[in-house]
Amino acid sequence: MTGAVTAGREVGRATVLVLGGTSEARAVAADLAGRPGLRVISSLAGRVRDPALPAGQVRIGGFGGARGMADWARAEGVGAVVDATHPFADTISAHAVEACARARLPLLRLLRPGWQAQPGDDWHHAGSLAEAASLLPALGARVFLTTGRQGLAAFAALDRLWFLIRCVDPPHGPMPAHHEVLLARGPYAREPERALMRHFAIGVLVTKDSGGPMTAGKLAAARDLGLPVVMIRRPDPPAAQSVPAVDDAVRWVLGQLPARHRAPHSAGA
Ligand SMILES: NC(=O)c1ccc[n+]([C@@H]2O[C@H](COP(=O)([O-])OP(=O)(O)OC[C@H]3O[C@@H](n4cnc5c(N)ncnc54)[C@H](OP(=O)(O)O)[C@@H]3O)[C@@H](O)[C@H]2O)c1
Repeated sequence: MTGAVTAGREVGRATVLVLGGTSEARAVAADLAGRPGLRVISSLAGRVRDPALPAGQVRIGGFGGARGMADWARAEGVGAVVDATHPFADTISAHAVEACARARLPLLRLLRPGWQAQPGDDWHHAGSLAEAASLLPALGARVFLTTGRQGLAAFAALDRLWFLIRCVDPPHGPMPAHHEVLLARGPYAREPERALMRHFAIGVLVTKDSGGPMTAGKLAAARDLGLPVVMIRRPDPPAAQSVPAVDDAVRWVLGQLPARHRAPHSAGA
């Protein structure tokens, strides 16, 4: 990856776009926003009603595809892009690759590692929500569904099963006939997750392989209770330089800066 972050529309400040919607994106923005000479703009899709807002500037809503993102980045004088979106947000990640190629901008993908099965786990891998749904009747009658409010239609035909559907905002559209919706936002720890699964007499857990510690408590709880887990595989990663951790992404951004901007961090600057 070549090219330095160039001065943005604000004189003397380099501009970095962080594609967000994750805790890692907020952590990158929190670190970079306190540095002199740097303007950080985080971008959120606008899916969640009351999003946790990152430090620095924030824009909310789609760009109108890859071309729209490239035009927007040019207009804002963006000099580098960090794609810190969720591992399953593959459309925006593909758009970031195309937009950065169009606008000749350096791009970094911050992608947290996927979860690894541990001794005692009973994981059943699925390539899609539809495949996950097809596995369920053989695994349990009471399902804890933690794949988010999008895509519930894939489970709608399973009218012999009961679902506990956990999501941040209320779901709509087709969904299983027998269900209870639990509105909640992580992080989720092991003990409360185990208590929740016991309370609802859960027989099987469905999750995306989101990775990270914030929602891993459900995996430990399922292990404790001897429950099977349907683990939905990640989409292919985008064709971009990738790092696994927030510190790596911060270092990469600072490495893109012209030397005059590489001042040490000063909180509140
Ligand atoms: N997918 C998940 O399981 C999941 C879980 C937790 C958080 N999230 C977060 O929720 C957001 C939406 O996820 P998704 O899976 O629905 O995305 P997606 O399918 O990859 O993207 C669909 C469209 O939403 C817009 N978009 C997505 N992320 C955006 C962002 N950060 N800033 C501006 N526009 C964005 C883009 O619209 P335009 O084409 O108009 O630009 C994109 O084409 C992402 O930011 C992601 O980090 C997703």
